[in-house]
Amino acid sequence: MAAWRPPQVEELLAEARRAFLEEFGAEPELAVSAPGRVNLIGEHTDYNQGLVLPMALELVTILVGSPRTDGLVSLLTTSKNADEPQRLQFPLPTAQRSLEPGIPQWANYVKGVIQHYPAAPLPGFSAVVVSSVPLGGGLSSSASLEVATYTFLQQLCPGVPCGIMDQLIALLGQKGHALLIDCRSLETSLVPLSDPKLAVLITNSNVRHSLASSEYPIRRRQCEEVAQALGKESLREVRLEELEAGRELMSKEGFRRARHVVGEIRRTAQGAAALSRGDYRAFGRLMVESHYSLRDDYEVSCPELDQLVEAALSVPGVYGSRMTGGGFGGCTVTLLEASAASLAMHHIQEQYSGTASFYLSQAADGAQVLSL
Ligand code: GLA
Repeated sequence: MAAWRPPQVEELLAEARRAFLEEFGAEPELAVSAPGRVNLIGEHTDYNQGLVLPMALELVTILVGSPRTDGLVSLLTTSKNADEPQRLQFPLPTAQRSLEPGIPQWANYVKGVIQHYPAAPLPGFSAVVVSSVPLGGGLSSSASLEVATYTFLQQLCPGVPCGIMDQLIALLGQKGHALLIDCRSLETSLVPLSDPKLAVLITNSNVRHSLASSEYPIRRRQCEEVAQALGKESLREVRLEELEAGRELMSKEGFRRARHVVGEIRRTAQGAAALSRGDYRAFGRLMVESHYSLRDDYEVSCPELDQLVEAALSVPGVYGSRMTGGGFGGCTVTLLEASAASLAMHHIQEQYSGTASFYLSQAADGAQVLSL
């Protein structure tokens, strides 16, 4: 079974330019790209000021466009993700009138970035969006669109980038590296990940349970409550012994949620160190611990993701596997010997009750300004 190889940036760029010319009657003046991401380890730690270890993917969102003088924003997506081309036109926000979210939903990410873009005044613009990042697969299609939009606006007028895991990796990812991000200090360091004998296999469960968006804020609040109960600014400041000692200050559920986060921050530090010294076995073990902790303590996995992980773990040559991203569906990430990839895909699909899709991606670069 072949994994889907993402189309090259040049191909997507050519498609976007063609569509722009057809729609707006001129060549676009600017082009940018921003990648999707897969998180290798460090799940549900970013909003607890912890550590995360994502890598940028070769799956990208491309935005081409030109400024316009009538104060309008005119958007077209020909994305393979959408059934057919979608168009939207709206005036730039003013002090009296802000941009309202609406339909189509993808455009809300563009609107959000425009609304909060710090440099004013912003010129209107026409743009075409194409993307190879699957929508709703937990690979950060929305952050890649936000970062592509942000990078595009920076080209229209200068500004300063900021953000957390998805946005940071989409901006700062570097080919051949994962990125260790300290979400407290926002310091980043590159972790080499370019061994040709190693592969990162992403398996999309192709399910997304509706719990995903409602449970996320609940988890986040639970973490903040535990930190507060222990008199700490965030769970980043909490050691496992302190958490255990303070057990009676929190609910049983709160304790388990926090135990995941505190353990996951430690695993991420250990994981980055293991990867740096090429100890894939150690990294794989940490991935599996991470998955079980997300499943049992944080309770953000689902039967489909558990099935995919167990199926991957039974394949020789697999170092580790875990759910990645927010949970309740989306993707798993598996670290394995490159030579085992084909067997792993077959076996996982065979064991999986649903239909899986596979992506094999090298660690790629973050957002780019492309030359036209
Ligand atoms: C989602 C969020 C990220 C992060 C992950 C969990 O993907 O967008 O910021 O919290 O969940 O690690």
